[in-house]
Amino acid sequence: MRQSRFRFPSFALLILSIVCLTGQSFAQRQPQAPAPTGPWMNTTLSPDERADLVLKEMTLDEKIALLHGVGMPTDEPVTPENAASNRGVGYAVGVPRLGIPGIDMSDAAYGVRSSGVNGRYSTALPANVAAAASWDPDAAFEYGALIGRELRAQGFNMSLGGGVNLTRDPRNGRTFEYLGEDPVLAGTLVAKLVEGTQSEHVIGDIKHYALNDQESGRNAVNVNIDKRAARESDLLAFEIGVSKGNPAAVMCSYNRVNGDFACENKYLLSDVLKKDWKFPGFVLSDWGGTHSTEKASAAGLDNEEPGDFFFSDKFKAAVEAGTISSAELDEHVHRILRSMFAAGVIDFPRQRFVVDPFAGFETARKIEESGIVLLKNDHAALPLNAARLHTIAVIGSHSDVGMISGGGSAQVDPIGGNAILPAGKGATHWMQEIWFPTSPLKAIQARAPKTTVKYDPGTDPAASAAAAKDADVAIVFAYMWASEAMDLPSLTLPHDQDAVIAAVAAANPHTIVVLETGNPVTMPWVGAPAAILEAWFAGSDGADAVGNVLFGSVNPGGKLPNTFPKSEADLPHPTLTTPPAESQHFSGPVNREMWAKGLPPFQVTYDEGVKVGYKWYETEKTPVLFPFGFGLSYTTYSYSGLKLSSGDTVRATFTITNTGAREGSEIAEVYAMLPNAADEPFKRLVGFTKVKLDAKQRQTVTVDIDPKYLSIWDEAKDGWSLVPGDYTILVGGSSVDLPLKAVVSLK
Ligand code: BGC
Repeated sequence: MRQSRFRFPSFALLILSIVCLTGQSFAQRQPQAPAPTGPWMNTTLSPDERADLVLKEMTLDEKIALLHGVGMPTDEPVTPENAASNRGVGYAVGVPRLGIPGIDMSDAAYGVRSSGVNGRYSTALPANVAAAASWDPDAAFEYGALIGRELRAQGFNMSLGGGVNLTRDPRNGRTFEYLGEDPVLAGTLVAKLVEGTQSEHVIGDIKHYALNDQESGRNAVNVNIDKRAARESDLLAFEIGVSKGNPAAVMCSYNRVNGDFACENKYLLSDVLKKDWKFPGFVLSDWGGTHSTEKASAAGLDNEEPGDFFFSDKFKAAVEAGTISSAELDEHVHRILRSMFAAGVIDFPRQRFVVDPFAGFETARKIEESGIVLLKNDHAALPLNAARLHTIAVIGSHSDVGMISGGGSAQVDPIGGNAILPAGKGATHWMQEIWFPTSPLKAIQARAPKTTVKYDPGTDPAASAAAAKDADVAIVFAYMWASEAMDLPSLTLPHDQDAVIAAVAAANPHTIVVLETGNPVTMPWVGAPAAILEAWFAGSDGADAVGNVLFGSVNPGGKLPNTFPKSEADLPHPTLTTPPAESQHFSGPVNREMWAKGLPPFQVTYDEGVKVGYKWYETEKTPVLFPFGFGLSYTTYSYSGLKLSSGDTVRATFTITNTGAREGSEIAEVYAMLPNAADEPFKRLVGFTKVKLDAKQRQTVTVDIDPKYLSIWDEAKDGWSLVPGDYTILVGGSSVDLPLKAVVSLK
């Protein structure tokens, strides 16, 4: 289905464009297209009223044209249908006669995709999982806003970002694109991210709805899960995202759920999303995820992407034959139009302008700094004191020139091109590792100018150990690349990096490990190095962020949004279910009928239910490597004085004290244990807050707990229920370190 044919402008051209830009931040705006006219341009009317005014004027063909895409402009030649597009991955023609623009879509998980192919620049933010590790709704807003700004600058008016599938299986190749294993954390952050994107007058979406929790066989798999478990886990993340973030669009996923493809699943699209959550926006299919006309339309799919197999001629014929009513057609069109008005893409037409790459780097660096997690720091090995170091050995992962990024449709083209690909340097290719030219070696040398900093590629354990032996400090960079369209075979670092780390740590007691991964990894060597940092896929300016943390100008304050288990054997499904041959993704030429029919299903049953991540390990009493919500700091904190009050919501008030000698930001986590009658004998995250504190400063904070986060999904009542009884509220700095405890009785 997907072909990626990225070309990349020459480095010289990019440098030239940056030089031309200096001092012109957000400038060079081009003249705006003439504003559309018509009674629907009356901004005192609601988006719904405005949509209806447009709808009244539309012909059947114009309505149908809004219900589907015209292919993937990035990969296709210019055609009359896609000519007005901006060469992104999707384009739905608007209603030019009535001044309604086309919907011009670009992937934008951690930055705008395919900018390079279009000769443009975009910032690569750290991976979404790094933003989740910041536990910072403001950072998530900035993340989304930067994406919105750069999309608009490039002429796009719709973002395909907002991935919020839970980390049910940490081997999922898209874990880096998502926001962790907990629905309250992921939902809260995706809502803010979408809000940020839409604040720039760009249609935001959240995806992939729902339970697309593994990539293996994603176009075929049938996920079996009971309603209560689904509503309290994966669907809760979407519910929070939809109700708090108000995304204009939701992308339904490739997989089947309880028998039906997600994009023709009445329960997911109509009963839950549109009726229960009152989602007023539109649902678009994942790329090639539509498999029917009448069934998908009736279930609640509004827009087929990227093509027009089911929602064009077939749809028109169905309307003419009466198998789809005009009311149903109008409902789809209304949702699309009202979302365009609501997001502001009609009132604020796209204006191409040149983005400020330096501002982008700064945002990317700050978010990375707040998401880096300090996992281990024996004897205060970090931060490093440059004045005391004569030699530093920097080892592994091409850390002389770059840092790895996450692949697939999330891939952002690096400014300057791929840092290491030997052939065709600079190009980005589907399913290939792309290294951003942000050099840890240079960042370290810049912070220790008088120290000898030497590099070893980390490809031979003995050679790396020799390089590390006489250095004052050895810093090993270890990576695990991941991408859409694949899952990891295991959580083991590839390329024998475990052996390199073990050898280096054995040779030098002052070994620091910096991980560049989107997924949790196993660490058979965990006891050996003095310090471990998780830096994720660190984005455009990752090296400076890591440098600032290593040398202490920034105090790491991130905490894990995913549990790091000790072994795959500890997962709810130790072996990932992979598809049988007939359910494997099509490769080679595929005729549209074959694709449309869908691959035969294979079954995956989520019998762990609601016990995703830490809830599973707690129930099973399985020790983990690093728990959910864990992260150290260069200072220390204490918690005291928990008080609970209950009115409409339960309110937790407590005091956090910075007991150390330097400033820092602490993430306080609030969990609840439900009454026994709820039959969920494990805790769940119900709130959190991040507080910046100077040395010795104390602050009393309040966390309001949404009653839904204390509730269970009651299948009999088909609604949320608060089980009467005693709720134990626990507060502290990680899911396993909760010094404060109090009980509130709810009726
Ligand atoms: C991915 C989506 C993406 C779309 C368009 C699909 O393969 O699953 O996340 O937005 O392609 O590139």
